[in-house]
Amino acid sequence: MIAVIDFGSQYTQLIARRVRECRVYSEIFSCFTAADKIRKRSPQGVILSGGPGSVYASRTATFLPFFELGVPLLGICYGMQLMAEIGGGRVKHSRKREYGYARIRRTAHPLFSGLPRHFTVWMSHGDTVTALPPGARTIASTPTTQIAGFAWQNGCALQFHPEVHHTEYGMQIIDNFLTKICRAKKNWSIGRVVDKQIEEIRQQVGHTKVICAVSGGIDSTVAAVLATRAIGRNLIGIFVDNGLLRAGEVDEVRSMIAPLVNLRIVDASARFLTHLRNIKHPEKKRKIIGREFIKVFEREARKIKNVHSLVQGTLYPDVIESGKGIGPSAVIKSHHNVGGLPRKMNLKVIEPLRSLFKDEVRKMAKVLRLPARFIHRKPFPGPGLAVRVVGGITEGRLARLRQADSILQEEAVKLPGYRDIWQIFAVLLPLGSVGVMGDRRTYDAVCAIRAVYSEDGMTADWVRLPQDFLATVSRRITNEVKGINRVVFDITSKPPSTIEWE
Ligand code: XMP
Repeated sequence: MIAVIDFGSQYTQLIARRVRECRVYSEIFSCFTAADKIRKRSPQGVILSGGPGSVYASRTATFLPFFELGVPLLGICYGMQLMAEIGGGRVKHSRKREYGYARIRRTAHPLFSGLPRHFTVWMSHGDTVTALPPGARTIASTPTTQIAGFAWQNGCALQFHPEVHHTEYGMQIIDNFLTKICRAKKNWSIGRVVDKQIEEIRQQVGHTKVICAVSGGIDSTVAAVLATRAIGRNLIGIFVDNGLLRAGEVDEVRSMIAPLVNLRIVDASARFLTHLRNIKHPEKKRKIIGREFIKVFEREARKIKNVHSLVQGTLYPDVIESGKGIGPSAVIKSHHNVGGLPRKMNLKVIEPLRSLFKDEVRKMAKVLRLPARFIHRKPFPGPGLAVRVVGGITEGRLARLRQADSILQEEAVKLPGYRDIWQIFAVLLPLGSVGVMGDRRTYDAVCAIRAVYSEDGMTADWVRLPQDFLATVSRRITNEVKGINRVVFDITSKPPSTIEWE
């Protein structure tokens, strides 16, 4: 195991994933984790991430223990500056800040084994190491930064970011650290995780029954399929139809998931719609949906005898105790996740994906041989169409949106770049607009089209959809959906907008 210490860099998770891509298992620890806790996990190496702080700020001393673990260290950016400071070197704010590409000249060091003398790297720093710790030697320089890398005792350090793909040979550098310096074995793979998880679930639950809230999304399905491989029909997946699903979704989920998992579909749509009728405020909608979901799920769970555990598709990013949690962060939306059930249900929680990143879960889905159309299914929010019917929810407005959205989906799958689009969907606006149809005045609703590219949903850019496509969709929606007489196209990125309208 390689421990990645998070000092709040935006790239920490990327470092951990790169290590795993080299087939070595990695875990992220907050920079406030006690060294003893990390020592107990017996890491073969430690990587210190970058971070937004400056090492000459007073908190530095608390990070000393990482140096006492006695295993090879790799400091990246802030991690390098920390190493310099602790070793007795000097770090200064530099007027020559370096952001973006830089040309590096390297010396001989195992980190650079097999690499050319000069190559291009990605820099992002305002502070610079100006004096080395006694006994250290420089291993890389750029025209602006004399000390762009150094080796010292059991550590090596880089000012640039080997984890980002802009750095040439970045993966090779990480691989060299793992294999040539830490002597780590490259034996971690998703296939092995699958076997291990199946075995663990089997041992944990014995002959008791296990339930799992299935949303139709990849995480809950993969978790349920894993558990099914372990205990067969004793795993019961519960899919709640909350009346906020897209056209044909219940049948789609049934046809995709029922062959893989012992599945119960519960129609609770009337109950959800009664509680949501005419509710306008997005946060209120989310709260009601979350609350009702829990009630329905608990009621269904009680009907099944001998249930002792609950499987959830929690992913690694949700469990990382990150260094970033230092300051207050604003709540933009209280995301309601179908999997987010309360622990007070008195059931043992089993989270077979809790060490995995999203892309690793996709790989796992392939190992488990889930159908490709499922693996490439686009994300859909837990509160469903409730957050796409902007304003008050009524059955009529939901029906209108459903029809408009299914026309959009029918056309979208024909787009050549469809797979690369993160989400494409229709939104019903709480606006009346004047139109004219067959010589008559209309006063109907406006529908917006939203399509975005995104890596992880955190940021997004709008898709430059072809004009002919937009024309077809607009014509079909206004012709076919009664009550919509205008279609607009959303051309905002995230930030400043969010992906969903509510
Ligand atoms: P936003 O709108 O916050 O969306 O930019 C980012 C991603 O999250 C999805 N989303 C949700 N997913 N419960 C969910 O499970 C929610 O309440 C929720 N709100 C947004 C959204 O579809 C996008 O992929």
